[in-house]
Amino acid sequence: MAASRLPYPLTLTGDGIILREWRADDLDDLVRMLDEPEIARWSPMPSPFDVEAGIAYLKRCYQNRVGGRRIQLAITTDGSRPLGEVTLFGVDLGLKEAELGYLVDAGERRRGLASGALSLLSSYAQGSLHLSRLLLRIDPGNVGSTAVARHCGYRLTGEPPILQEGPHGSSRLDTWELVERQPDTRRDRLRNVASRRYRRRT
Ligand SMILES: CC(C)(COP(=O)(O)OP(=O)(O)OC[C@H]1O[C@@H](n2cnc3c(N)ncnc32)[C@H](O)[C@@H]1OP(=O)(O)O)[C@@H](O)C(=O)NCCC(=O)NCCS
Repeated sequence: MAASRLPYPLTLTGDGIILREWRADDLDDLVRMLDEPEIARWSPMPSPFDVEAGIAYLKRCYQNRVGGRRIQLAITTDGSRPLGEVTLFGVDLGLKEAELGYLVDAGERRRGLASGALSLLSSYAQGSLHLSRLLLRIDPGNVGSTAVARHCGYRLTGEPPILQEGPHGSSRLDTWELVERQPDTRRDRLRNVASRRYRRRT
């Protein structure tokens, strides 16, 4: 990355997922998605998450995006309705390091959206932004999120947990780091085609 500002606008596509910029007309979907107990429990979102919170969220998101401070994209399968969100923030160009986060609409979980979106953005961060240390911070009680991390090639670093106090009590966030290079999506697709052919023969 030549400049210290993260690219804006940005669309990332791969493996049935389109990550796109948030738009003002996403407000209703955003509020419905973020006003949810699991998101309130495991993320720093305000709860209840109402229209006012949604307007402030989209405004802050836009400011961070045009300022190039973070990448914050809606997860979609076709570029239209947002089904979740994936972010890249806390970028340290000196250390070539950044943190990522994700969430998925309660009605759209367990269909690979978080892991697909995390893989896509991790791959972009490594390949295009040349960030070599990608981190996640996850409470070990969040089994869904730790499963996503493991699925995408992240591993526990063994660093001391980060202790936090929130509205749901204390939490201890473990640090996970991407240790496996994200597969080249084209090569991955070809491998998937090959394995599908193989399965057909057996
Ligand atoms: C955690 C969360 C993002 C997972 O999203 P998702 O789209 O359902 O995840 P995926 O479908 O990509 O699942 C990836 C893997 O995790 C597993 N998984 C997902 N949710 C799980 C759960 N609640 N319990 C156990 N395993 C789970 C899937 O089975 C899949 O397993 P695999 O590796 O065997 O294929 C979603 O539950 C969520 O938004 N939670 C609230 C917000 C949150 O916790 N964000 C992360 C903060 S660190």
